[in-house]
Amino acid sequence: MIANRTAAVLGLAAALLAAPASRAAMVAAQAPSSTGGKPAQTAVPPTPAGRAETGALVFKKVGCWQCHANEAQGGSAGPRIGPNPIPFARFTQYVRNPAGDMPPYTGKVLSNQDLADIYAFLQARPRPPAVGTIPQLAP
Ligand code: HEC
Repeated sequence: MIANRTAAVLGLAAALLAAPASRAAMVAAQAPSSTGGKPAQTAVPPTPAGRAETGALVFKKVGCWQCHANEAQGGSAGPRIGPNPIPFARFTQYVRNPAGDMPPYTGKVLSNQDLADIYAFLQARPRPPAVGTIPQLAP
């Protein structure tokens, strides 16, 4: 009787120890179906066509520059957001529902086309020069 219970407990322990491995295998097996069997990249919407010049005006009008500075290079009130902005889907999501100190911009103040134009403006910001090309910083 005692021997049987010990065997049962050992069997249970073995099953519990094996559980993480089998769960990982299950998750791995299920992963492709969550995106319908297609690679995750196909779910990302394409970046809409934006007009950088219009974006520059909207960037001024709605006050992005007040925290992110005129060239989106960032300052004491907000981080740099150009010339390599985060992917468009995340950009839109963030501007509509920011997580930190940034105020939210709803569709009333900023249309999706405005967002696309600002995004084009951010992408068009000049890249900072390489450190080696700045005489004062050259080795
Ligand atoms: C009142 C200041 C303020 C204004 C105005 C503002 N931002 Fe921000 N923004 C921030 C701060 C601070 C952060 C850093 C994260 C946080 O605290 O939300 C941020 C973060 C972001 C990020 C995320 C950057 C990253 O790398 O994750 C994006 C994108 C962004 N801002 C875009 C914009 C755009 C576009 C506008 C104008 C429509 C704007 N912000 C207006 C303060 C501001």
